Amino acid sequence: MPNVNDILRVKGNHVWTVEPDATIYEALRIMADKDIGALVVMKDEKLMGIISERDYARRVMLKGKSSRDTKVEEVMTKKIYCVKPDHSMEETMALMSQQHVRHLPVHEGEKIIGLVSIGDAVSKIISDQAITIQHLKDFIMRG
Ligand SMILES: NC(=O)c1ccc[n+]([C@@H]2O[C@H](COP(=O)([O-])OP(=O)(O)OC[C@H]3O[C@@H](n4cnc5c(N)ncnc54)[C@H](O)[C@@H]3O)[C@@H](O)[C@H]2O)c1
Repeated sequence: MPNVNDILRVKGNHVWTVEPDATIYEALRIMADKDIGALVVMKDEKLMGIISERDYARRVMLKGKSSRDTKVEEVMTKKIYCVKPDHSMEETMALMSQQHVRHLPVHEGEKIIGLVSIGDAVSKIISDQAITIQHLKDFIMRG
């Protein structure tokens, strides 16, 4: 059964981060530049939270706050759900679905070694299904 490590092997271990005292504007700038929807908030290598486009939409824009005057730590999501590299894709997607989160940092002990998103999980399932279908086609054609 595919696991989180199978995703990281393909997408790599880099994690885009931001510091808690950065402004929301700076965080949005990084998200736009990197074409991603969330940043892991780290201070001195310690995981502090996650800031997502959803946090911005609901806790900044809809509240009438200014992204240039609001700090990441004021609106980030502090309750963080993580997975380990050996978490199965099923467990990972169940966690995303139950907790309504789209991004999960991957940790090994105290260290953050990657991040998986809902899009990564869907892509992995689609590519695995394509491989299975090809194997079945090859099997039928041989028979
Ligand atoms: N073709 C692919 O392989 C693929 C993979 C992932 C997502 N997508 C597509 O991208 C769109 C949005 O994807 P999403 O909702 O999963 O979220 P997203 O836009 O935040 O993530 C896009 C990619 O960036 C990575 N990423 C996001 N934030 C990161 C961070 N802080 N550090 C390191 N990596 C980070 C994700 O793991 C994912 O691979 C969807 O349409 C999805 O289908 C495609």
